[in-house]
Amino acid sequence: MRLSVIPIWLAFIFLLTDIRAEDGSAAWLRYAPPPNAHQLQQYVPNKIAILNGTVTSPVFSAGKELKQGIESILHRNNATSITSHLSRTDIIIVGTLDQFTKAYGNIGSETKLEGDSFWLKYDTSLKNVYIIGADQRGALYGVFEYLRLLALGSDVSKLNVVRAPMGPIRWVNQWDNMGGDITREYGGDSIFFSNGNISQNLTRAGQFARILSSIGINSCVVNNVNANATLLSSSNIQGLARIADVFRPWGVQLSISIDFAAPQDFGGLSTYDPVDPTVVSWWDSKVKELYTAIPDMGGFLIKADSEGQAGPAQYNRTLAQGANIFADALAPFNGIVMYRAFVYNQLNESDMKADRANAAVQFFQPFDGQFRDNVVVQIKNGPIDFQVREPTSPLFGVLQKTNVAMEVEVAQEYLGQQCHLVYLPPLWKLTLDFDLQVDNKPSKVRDIISGKRFNRALGGMAAVTNVGLNSTWLGSHLAMSNLYGYGRLAWDADSSSEEIIQDWIRLTFGHDQKVIQVIQDMSMQSWPAYENYSGNLGIQTLTDILYTHFGPNPQTADGNGWGQWTRTDKYGLGMDRSVSTGTGFSGQYPPKVAKMYETFETTPDELALWFHHLNYTHKLHSGKTVIQHFYDAHYEGAQTAANFVSMWKSLDGKIDAERFEDVLERQVYQAGHSIVWRDSIVNYFYNWSGIPDTHGRVGHHPYRIEAESMKLEGYAPYKVSPFEAASNFTAITVNNTVGTATATLKYPDGVYDVAVQYYDLYGGTSHYEIYLNNNSVGSFYSNTTMGHTPSVYLDGISATRHTFHSVNIKSGDTLRIVGTPDGNDPAPLDYVAILPPGILD
Ligand SMILES: *[C@@H]1O[C@H](CO)[C@@H](O)[C@H](O)[C@H]1NC(C)=O
Ligand SMILES: *[C@@H]1O[C@H](CO)[C@@H](O)[C@H](O)[C@H]1NC(C)=O
Ligand SMILES: *[C@@H]1O[C@H](CO)[C@@H](O)[C@H](O)[C@H]1NC(C)=O
Ligand SMILES: *[C@@H]1O[C@H](CO)[C@@H](O)[C@H](O)[C@H]1NC(C)=O
Ligand SMILES: *[C@@H]1O[C@H](CO)[C@@H](O)[C@H](O)[C@H]1NC(C)=O
Ligand SMILES: *[C@@H]1O[C@H](CO)[C@@H](O)[C@H](O)[C@H]1NC(C)=O
Ligand SMILES: *[C@@H]1O[C@H](CO)[C@@H](O)[C@H](O)[C@H]1NC(C)=O
Ligand SMILES: *[C@@H]1O[C@H](CO)[C@@H](O)[C@H](O)[C@H]1NC(C)=O
Ligand SMILES: *[C@@H]1O[C@H](CO)[C@@H](O)[C@H](O)[C@H]1NC(C)=O
Ligand SMILES: *[C@@H]1O[C@H](CO)[C@@H](O)[C@H](O)[C@H]1NC(C)=O
Ligand SMILES: *[C@@H]1O[C@H](CO)[C@@H](O)[C@H](O)[C@H]1NC(C)=O
Ligand SMILES: *[C@@H]1O[C@H](CO)[C@@H](O)[C@H](O)[C@H]1NC(C)=O
Repeated sequence: MRLSVIPIWLAFIFLLTDIRAEDGSAAWLRYAPPPNAHQLQQYVPNKIAILNGTVTSPVFSAGKELKQGIESILHRNNATSITSHLSRTDIIIVGTLDQFTKAYGNIGSETKLEGDSFWLKYDTSLKNVYIIGADQRGALYGVFEYLRLLALGSDVSKLNVVRAPMGPIRWVNQWDNMGGDITREYGGDSIFFSNGNISQNLTRAGQFARILSSIGINSCVVNNVNANATLLSSSNIQGLARIADVFRPWGVQLSISIDFAAPQDFGGLSTYDPVDPTVVSWWDSKVKELYTAIPDMGGFLIKADSEGQAGPAQYNRTLAQGANIFADALAPFNGIVMYRAFVYNQLNESDMKADRANAAVQFFQPFDGQFRDNVVVQIKNGPIDFQVREPTSPLFGVLQKTNVAMEVEVAQEYLGQQCHLVYLPPLWKLTLDFDLQVDNKPSKVRDIISGKRFNRALGGMAAVTNVGLNSTWLGSHLAMSNLYGYGRLAWDADSSSEEIIQDWIRLTFGHDQKVIQVIQDMSMQSWPAYENYSGNLGIQTLTDILYTHFGPNPQTADGNGWGQWTRTDKYGLGMDRSVSTGTGFSGQYPPKVAKMYETFETTPDELALWFHHLNYTHKLHSGKTVIQHFYDAHYEGAQTAANFVSMWKSLDGKIDAERFEDVLERQVYQAGHSIVWRDSIVNYFYNWSGIPDTHGRVGHHPYRIEAESMKLEGYAPYKVSPFEAASNFTAITVNNTVGTATATLKYPDGVYDVAVQYYDLYGGTSHYEIYLNNNSVGSFYSNTTMGHTPSVYLDGISATRHTFHSVNIKSGDTLRIVGTPDGNDPAPLDYVAILPPGILD
């Protein structure tokens, strides 16, 4: 056990104010006192007036939150009271502008407040704090903003700001299934569903709504976009109403994904043709039933004609007809249709003009102007699917008479599944800040989705999230910076990634300068590092796209109709997407941007292989060849991930033990798995190209002992597929009750780290014990999947390592590994690395 670092006086406060253990459940709402808490006291009155909130209203929640927050942040012992006496001085007033003007007249509230915005002011002469919302939700957002400022230790003595969101759409999409599992489940089961029903216990759902509200999110879609039509049963609608009840006090509207074919699948009609009158009236009455139960429902999210989902194409109806049937049904209730632009068909890889990236514009462009005013087309940031690097979707520049929102993925589906640290705001900002130069006018994506550029009423952002029952919400403490960052950007896309992460660290881990610096450095380096050790130069992530979307498996991109092709051969790789010789994708951008991407000469290196097919020996603008760039980037990326471990360890004693250990475990895992990535990708392309690494690293591992070269008993060599997922293409597996692999070590006497590279398969917990001259060095079980999607194979998903530190080794020592298989897991071993200090292999 490590000693707690919390000062005694603070620990006392924690006890008094009942702050939870640091299990991550409080997220960034820990309300810990900043170092200057005592200086803030005088500016924070201890009476709170809530203007006319009913118990379930956001203004009422705002008052409660404010009292709780202030008492915790300023360590006041229950000394802040909520009063109904509307005194004129020394009071915090929380309410809507209307109520405020009624009660106090027009004191300085001349600013116009619109949808969800708020006004925050400290009146120095009256010693009042005004937290005034355009509406109730705005007042609640104002309270969260005020508490954020206090918790950050900001100067609140001169406060006078109006804050308004970028756009009205600030949604999250959970992909929860009614069975209680989640698609992309890396943080525990659903907080909404269990056993095919809406959960009885919705405590966590309410807590989630509070977290969402604190970052300005106003709607949550609770079920998978691949929707189950039975959600629309009367008893499930009653269940949804219970979720809406726990959302409502936090100003979060419940929304749902719907199955386009529900009238037939669930309603028993013979068709789901969107223009069929029986279908129209079926949806009308279903929508009425929903709004009777949930009068403030947000609307529908629709994935149609995509990846096997039903849609209007089935009946030769247009996407606009498909969307408008719901828009018309929802309009009387002010409901919104979020219609995903993620529509594409399987394609023929031999057709050099075929390109999945072309699909969205091809499908949607003809219908611009035909969507109803309450339809918002939800467009992923890039044209394919949340890859590590993609250009901005050209659809943002094409739909000028349609409301649009940008979809991002907080769930790290292709980006390490919350087991790798990848801070995503810098990736999202690339698209938000991208200037499409439509009609040669400034056309940043953020100004398009805010509605400004094309003068649209609706717009904003939506994020795929995957919070679950895990106390950390996302399965990983550090992954929460992505949820926080999403909310901040959806509110204000101008926020910088650095500013967001700094605030998040202060709120989540405290104000220690070193803590802030280290976590900020790790976070800012994390996406570049992940890109370095996965897919480079715009080739996409190179993860296993046919199975788990987790570890490396570059060959799954080609040889199928999914269109995430790399077109790798022995000469080179990349998709030619130019107009002159390729698929024509670059021509979907407005002229200036199209011209930039048309030729390699003007395409930035980071997207070189997205837009062009290049030979391995092609020289990039950097001066490196394509293949050497791959080699160098992969070694650099894995080194950065290794550095994260020592960086994090430097915070020992500055962070509570529980979170310190949880994060450390993940960073150690990432460091090991980034080596799996590195080796897989460099070996794969070395195998194709035959071009050696000019630095001699690829295929050369002086510190490794291949398991297949050890003396084996009960173990037998196993050819791993994909080949690149094993060092020397080969591992060993136990074909008996127990296996032993032995080797004589011929390293100079010294202290080494001993890294055991193995595979952790789903469906069994093998045991490994390592001996040096018959003395046990240590042992471990293979059950550390940490929440990512597991694999039943020996591959780049299951490959991982366990390291024993500081082992004394003498030349001639005998290393013996005893593997005991279990279930489906045959105790596989790839190699052992005997690592001198500072060496990564
Ligand atoms: C806080 O104060 C209120 C009103 O003064 C009182 O009803 C309540 O019991 C107090 N709570 C605690 C925990 O002292
Ligand atoms: C709040 O509502 C009550 C009745 O519901 C009304 O008498 C009172 O004037 C209202 N207060 C404000 C400040 O609007
Ligand atoms: C839909 O949910 C029901 C339970 O409510 C379940 O029986 C059925 O298997 C689900 N359908 C699919 C496709 O998941
Ligand atoms: C789901 O809820 C319905 C209605 O409350 C109930 O009839 C059914 O038995 C429940 N199913 C399960 C699996 O709990
Ligand atoms: C409901 O869930 C909360 C949060 O997980 C838990 O603390 C509480 O004990 C649960 N209540 C019941 C009745 O199971
Ligand atoms: C859709 O149109 C195609 C060709 O125009 C036709 O072959 C097909 O029968 C139509 N399908 C339906 C369901 O109307
Ligand atoms: C795929 O495209 C190639 C080249 O254009 C063509 O020869 C082939 O017939 C196509 N295959 C199918 C199934 O359409
Ligand atoms: C790329 O390699 C191919 C095959 O060796 C060769 O035909 C082609 O000329 C090369 N292209 C360039 C630009 O070097
Ligand atoms: C690589 O594997 C082959 C068998 O597949 C084996 O003969 C060779 O010794 C191995 N190389 C090393 C360095 O262990
Ligand atoms: C598997 O183990 C048996 C002994 O249990 C041994 O006879 C056999 O050779 C092993 N198979 C391989 C491929 O080594
Ligand atoms: C791994 O398995 C062992 C043996 O069954 C068990 O004692 C241990 O708690 C497991 N660890 C985890 C993280 O599940
Ligand atoms: C949270 O998830 C992680 C990873 O799946 C797991 O190790 C941990 O035990 C979980 N904790 C809780 C409280 O569910």
